[in-house]
Amino acid sequence: MIHRAVLVLVLALGLETQLTCATEVSVNNSEGKLCLYANLMVNFSVTYEAIGEKNETTVFALPDTVGTNESSCDNTSSTLHLSFGKGHSWAMSFSKGAETYQADSITFAFNLADSSFFPNATSNETVTVNVTMKDLSKASIGTCYSCKSQDLIQEGGVSQTLWNVLIQAFVANGTKSKEGKYMVHNIHQHNDLTAYVRYMLMTFTFFHHTVTSCAADLPSTTTPAPTTQTSTVPTTTPSPSLPTPTTGKYEVTMGLNTTACLMATFGLRIGFKLEQKYQEINLEPNGTSASGTCGNTSSELVLSNPTTTIVFTFVNETAKFRLHAVSVNITSSSGHQFAEENNNLTLWVASVGSSYMCNKEQRYNITESLFFYTFDLQVQPFAIDGGKFSTAEECFLDSDLSFLVPIAVGVALSFLIILVLISYLIGRRKSRTGYQSV
Ligand SMILES: *[C@@H]1O[C@H](CO)[C@@H](O)[C@H](O)[C@H]1NC(C)=O
Ligand SMILES: *[C@@H]1O[C@H](CO)[C@@H](O)[C@H](O)[C@H]1NC(C)=O
Ligand SMILES: *[C@@H]1O[C@H](CO)[C@@H](O)[C@H](O)[C@H]1NC(C)=O
Ligand SMILES: *[C@@H]1O[C@H](CO)[C@@H](O)[C@H](O)[C@H]1NC(C)=O
Ligand SMILES: *[C@@H]1O[C@H](CO)[C@@H](O)[C@H](O)[C@H]1NC(C)=O
Ligand SMILES: *[C@@H]1O[C@H](CO)[C@@H](O)[C@H](O)[C@H]1NC(C)=O
Ligand SMILES: *[C@@H]1O[C@H](CO)[C@@H](O)[C@H](O)[C@H]1NC(C)=O
Ligand SMILES: *[C@@H]1O[C@H](CO)[C@@H](O)[C@H](O)[C@H]1NC(C)=O
Ligand SMILES: *[C@@H]1O[C@H](CO)[C@@H](O)[C@H](O)[C@H]1NC(C)=O
Ligand SMILES: *[C@@H]1O[C@H](CO)[C@@H](O)[C@H](O)[C@H]1NC(C)=O
Ligand SMILES: *[C@@H]1O[C@H](CO)[C@@H](O)[C@H](O)[C@H]1NC(C)=O
Ligand SMILES: *[C@@H]1O[C@H](CO)[C@@H](O)[C@H](O)[C@H]1NC(C)=O
Repeated sequence: MIHRAVLVLVLALGLETQLTCATEVSVNNSEGKLCLYANLMVNFSVTYEAIGEKNETTVFALPDTVGTNESSCDNTSSTLHLSFGKGHSWAMSFSKGAETYQADSITFAFNLADSSFFPNATSNETVTVNVTMKDLSKASIGTCYSCKSQDLIQEGGVSQTLWNVLIQAFVANGTKSKEGKYMVHNIHQHNDLTAYVRYMLMTFTFFHHTVTSCAADLPSTTTPAPTTQTSTVPTTTPSPSLPTPTTGKYEVTMGLNTTACLMATFGLRIGFKLEQKYQEINLEPNGTSASGTCGNTSSELVLSNPTTTIVFTFVNETAKFRLHAVSVNITSSSGHQFAEENNNLTLWVASVGSSYMCNKEQRYNITESLFFYTFDLQVQPFAIDGGKFSTAEECFLDSDLSFLVPIAVGVALSFLIILVLISYLIGRRKSRTGYQSV
């Protein structure tokens, strides 16, 4: 009973965070009917010129309460216009096709005269950043567009990160959108527990019928998702996370010999702390080039793209190889440099003549402010035969024996309990004989 109460409480709290952290707005058309609904989160990072000839970066979020007066809906185009603070605004324009609608552009205007967001700014102007949406995500008319994944939009010194996005533009006055309307009307009544539960059930049914999910939210086709998470139910985790990085295939060749002497495949997410702020990026294999050197005792893999350079150094010692050093340089979205390295690692250990493999997601603390998350990892830095990976030595988590871990823990625990029980019984017996002898 208590357990159930706790569960309900956790669910309720989860929904509470989800509902209060996001910006939620409804826009009515000229006839007073709901025509545009949005529930989303946006974080901004803006680099501006400050007094003293320096560039400052400020970070803020789209607030919960925004003005929607300048939003508009008509038959073929709509604009979601959110104004906030001292003269800032964020707008998204939509257009409608025969069966789908899409977001075309985002216009973000910020007023540098607002010293609460831009302290010591040299300018007092309002700057407008207009971004044309590149990867047009279309949603079917009568459905909500949903994207829980982060979408980072960069333009000049301005980054906008959108996540937990739920938008329905061109809300139709027809049978198709019934469920959508129902949800949109009910979503406001979340002030008591039964309403929460109803909201949850509504959301659940709603999501199963009338949502168009963005590509980043869908389970990747190359790797079956190990978690039980489905793309149809909204998660209540407040912290955003990037989609699983794409698996890249990297090879190093030496001189005129075109056969690879070092091979690596993996998806890599890099977490790093820059100026007290933790951020993550996925290494995009498209646009990342691999180079390096191969030696008898040391080999190097260098991955580089315009913003990131990573150097992996492997050593061959006593018939085993290992990842010995990692060095990372990143130019962050705000234009700042991150550079860290660790020359004293012992990771990815396997016999020379075989490859190291770890398919499950792994987290590695490279330094105190640099973290690697690898996916579908396989590397061979030495003794490659015929341009193919040799037999793989798998990491512990991949092996079939990993299921033994909980069993071992269970056995150890039971053993401990039995031990305590026995010592208790012995102790009781001893004290009883003690009393008898008195
Ligand atoms: C928008 O329309 C809904 C009904 O569709 C109504 O309840 C709500 O008050 C309207 N909001 C505004 C601001 O007119
Ligand atoms: C500030 O940033 C701008 C644009 O990135 C650059 O041109 C300028 O040199 C920078 N100023 C300083 C002081 O770093
Ligand atoms: C603004 O600049 C002054 C000196 O120019 C400095 O003392 C103050 O800390 C700055 N304020 C902020 C918020 O950076
Ligand atoms: C903006 O700055 C200029 C010059 O620095 C000044 O003339 C103007 O009055 C300022 N405008 C506002 C609205 O503060
Ligand atoms: C933003 O760009 C789009 C496409 O280039 C354009 O249609 C729109 O009018 C622009 N908006 C503003 C406010 O400049
Ligand atoms: C759609 O609008 C018409 C009038 O424009 C109204 O008579 C009808 O009831 C509406 N249908 C729904 C499902 O709201
Ligand atoms: C080319 O490199 C591969 C892998 O290092 C090696 O096995 C092979 O012998 C080399 N071929 C020549 C002609 O050097
Ligand atoms: C990778 O780049 C190629 C060509 O540059 C392009 O055809 C392909 O669509 C890109 N793939 C992704 C996932 O961006
Ligand atoms: C690894 O190092 C040993 C000496 O420590 C050397 O004999 C062996 O050839 C090296 N293996 C490769 C593949 O270079
Ligand atoms: C990385 O950054 C460090 C320090 O700024 C610099 O010494 C090093 O040359 C950089 N490495 C690369 C590969 O850019
Ligand atoms: C390398 O790490 C080991 C333990 O991980 C530590 O004992 C050793 O002192 C470190 N060496 C250096 C040079 O930091
Ligand atoms: C890795 O870093 C995280 C966050 O800084 C920390 O909580 C964790 O204990 C670290 N793990 C190890 C093995 O150092």
